[in-house]
Amino acid sequence: MQQTDIGKKAAGEKAASYIKSGMTVGLGTGSTAYYTIMRIGEMVKAGLEIRAVATSQQSAQLAVEQAIPLVDFDQVEKIDIDIDGADEADTQLQLIKGGGGALLREKIIAAASKEMLVVIDEQKLVKHLGKFPLPVEVTTFGWELTFKHLVALGAHPVLRLKDNNRFVTDNGNYILDCHYQKIHNAPALHTQLNNIPGVVENGLFLDYASRLIIGYHDGTVREITHPYPAKTSF
Ligand code: A5P
Repeated sequence: MQQTDIGKKAAGEKAASYIKSGMTVGLGTGSTAYYTIMRIGEMVKAGLEIRAVATSQQSAQLAVEQAIPLVDFDQVEKIDIDIDGADEADTQLQLIKGGGGALLREKIIAAASKEMLVVIDEQKLVKHLGKFPLPVEVTTFGWELTFKHLVALGAHPVLRLKDNNRFVTDNGNYILDCHYQKIHNAPALHTQLNNIPGVVENGLFLDYASRLIIGYHDGTVREITHPYPAKTSF
């Protein structure tokens, strides 16, 4: 196993230890959340009783393979705990997500969760957000104009491709990866991006995470907690 995978596994599995029987759990997407889902699968086999909602088709499929009971999001009033990865996180628990293209469902589920735990390996802990290109999900209709808006704002967007074709999200949209290098005012940028017609959502997750679990190459973990300002009032 590679060193980053040791960190991802340590963080992913540690997060699963916060799950208790009776909870509704949000399953994140990506190579770190993978380890959480695999661990939850073992816990379910050992008698843990939960129900889960998935942030992507990829995670839903993994959950089914692991016999984790899945429910549709519309059958869920509130999620007790959401466990997801990130592409970058700072010590204030602000995040860039969407490297795997699942940012929209990830944000909807994070916003419906009482707690969001974020699992990363040590390389993703940064002083300043922005080196990782910020994913912006946009409608396919009129995406060229949305692209121009982003260029005008200095976002340096690049249309995401997969196997030489346009990458299409689970929601049927495109992703424009925006190259900032360093994001100076994340809340202002978040508002600016989401105000552009055609932008569905962007990958800045501000004030969502309540616990950041960082896995290191020696298999140890460090946790940073932050008061979680509720995103929902229902
Ligand atoms: C999916 O769209 C992303 O938000 C992932 O959660 C993020 O990219 C982290 O993925 P890895 O754990 O694979 O790096």
